[in-house]
Amino acid sequence: QIGLGTNRFGKEVVYEETVSSTQQIAHRLANEGASEGTIVVAEEQVSGKGRLSRSWHSPKFTGIWMSIILRPIIPIDKAPQLTLLAAVAVVQAIEEVTDTLPQIKWPNDILINGKKVTGILTEMQAESDGIHSVIIGIGINVNTKQDDFPDDLKEKATSIQIEQGKSISRAKLIQVLLLRLEKIYDLYLEKGFSPIKQLWEGYAVTIGRDIIATTLTGTITGRALGITEEGVLLLEDNKGEVHKIYSADISLA
Ligand code: BTN
Repeated sequence: QIGLGTNRFGKEVVYEETVSSTQQIAHRLANEGASEGTIVVAEEQVSGKGRLSRSWHSPKFTGIWMSIILRPIIPIDKAPQLTLLAAVAVVQAIEEVTDTLPQIKWPNDILINGKKVTGILTEMQAESDGIHSVIIGIGINVNTKQDDFPDDLKEKATSIQIEQGKSISRAKLIQVLLLRLEKIYDLYLEKGFSPIKQLWEGYAVTIGRDIIATTLTGTITGRALGITEEGVLLLEDNKGEVHKIYSADISLA
């Protein structure tokens, strides 16, 4: 194992060649009492999970398919902040080890040159007494080649290798990512969401632009104003009414 330089994150690593989904394993370990910062990484996922019940294409040896267990002592309604926090850490890590300029599309897609390179899935286990665990799943297309993507993804998905024209070390990227994650998580526990919100908004592509938000109940078009302290997206429609968007797919109008 590589020397990580972290205090807690990645001290316990469960590494598997092929799994159904690292999320599933992380949930099980969390229930069995695994400590905060435990990570599950796999070379391949045969049923990788995406947001909104989608699947996540996770071919062997090409990407980082990782789940991390967190046990924050925060109110349940603050949990979405952790997704935004993770997105900032991923952007910082990709910036550090590549010469690409990643950006964030609310809530948690990471794009390079407008195409998706990373998805983040946050799942929480909570009871009436609070949060038991939060599992943050991060999928990064690292050395994926254009041909590795199924046809329906070719238009909108990309990888670090495709964008930068050369492959990079996945081990190095994981190492930098865990350091960044731990650092920003500690900042969050100490100072709250404000500094994270500022970092996040600095990387966001959608803020200040006209977007289309497709929610479960319909479509809203308007200007993305920013995010709230809870990580909710604020959208101003053409009548000047401001909508709070909790969950949606966003595209530029
Ligand atoms: C999205 O829909 O954008 C989120 C994708 C999240 C994928 C990652 S890969 C590691 C972890 N295990 C999963 O099954 N999903 C997440």
